Amino acid sequence: MENSRMRKVVRLIPETKGSFDFYEEKNEKEINEIKKETPSSNIDYSNPLIEVKGLKKSFGELLVLNNISTNIYPGEKVVVIGPSGSGKSTFLRCLNCMEDPSGGSIIFDGEDLADLKVDINKHREKIGMVFQQFNLFNNLTVLQNITVAPIHLGVKKLRKAQFKNFFIKIGNAFRKEKKPLIEAKSKKEIVKEATDNAMKLLKRIGLEEKASVYPSTLSGGQKQIIDIIRALNMNPKVMLFDEPTSALDPEMVGEVLDLIKDLASEGMTMVIVTHEMGFAKEVGTRVLLMADGIIAEEGTPSEVFDNPKNPRTIQFLKAVL
Ligand SMILES: Nc1ncnc2c1ncn2[C@@H]1O[C@H](COP(=O)(O)OP(=O)(O)OP(=O)(O)O)[C@@H](O)[C@H]1O
Ligand SMILES: [Mg+2]
Repeated sequence: MENSRMRKVVRLIPETKGSFDFYEEKNEKEINEIKKETPSSNIDYSNPLIEVKGLKKSFGELLVLNNISTNIYPGEKVVVIGPSGSGKSTFLRCLNCMEDPSGGSIIFDGEDLADLKVDINKHREKIGMVFQQFNLFNNLTVLQNITVAPIHLGVKKLRKAQFKNFFIKIGNAFRKEKKPLIEAKSKKEIVKEATDNAMKLLKRIGLEEKASVYPSTLSGGQKQIIDIIRALNMNPKVMLFDEPTSALDPEMVGEVLDLIKDLASEGMTMVIVTHEMGFAKEVGTRVLLMADGIIAEEGTPSEVFDNPKNPRTIQFLKAVL
């Protein structure tokens, strides 16, 4: 019986700011000990990670987001709920620069995303996004899916270092005091590190034997777990989830939610759009209810679910609870 309550847990290592490790086969008591070490209430309110100010988004005549303002602090798990078409996905897509806002601003990690000097690709590296439909390449194996982004990024950094070093070397020919060259890992090292890391992760979630298979041979739940691992492998500062379980068969939902819960309890900042109200109550440190393009209600899960004030919230909760 004891074994049935054993499950794999994911643990973020706070001192490495976002990197994570997996602890296998912990029982509930051990899991609770880990959670005590890094409690989910560990939110740093000194500086918001994301500041959303008066965000507006229209598609032609259709005003989808109408003046959304909210701050998201490191360690928060913000759950976004609301009726279909209320703009939840559009909101997440604006945070990830997949949509250009029509007005207002988003300051991410101190950088205004509307500023043309901000490198959008660099910004996206800080964000892990997981959609309802798995974001895996069908023509790449599981291992390639997990390593493709870190390898690409590593090689990009290597090229940049090589380019700069070329000019440093020329300059050094004329300098008395030589400028040091920029250190960079070789391509072989980059590939090895990304592969070793990916294999370690796959082994620890028990999907090691799936490394060389193609996503089409995986179950929906496995695909979504691999997709989450793929996003985590970039060491993001925040994870955005857009209904990560709504395309899954019911029996696969639990496993994916468990993985997200483990990440949440270990300190990952998250914004999660979900229709799973039980999960929202359990994991959310704050709930935003979006309706008609605005934040109709905002508060702790118990404030929003047990004591809603806005008639729109009451109507929505009546329909879904
Ligand atoms: N690229 C687009 N072009 C035109 N209209 C769009 C576009 N994306 C979204 N919309 C519209 O914006 C509105 C909000 O869509 P969005 O997907 O953000 O809602 P949602 O709250 O995520 O809904 P659901 O719960 O069904 O996922 C909808 O009316 C949708 O049709
Ligand atoms: Mg949506």
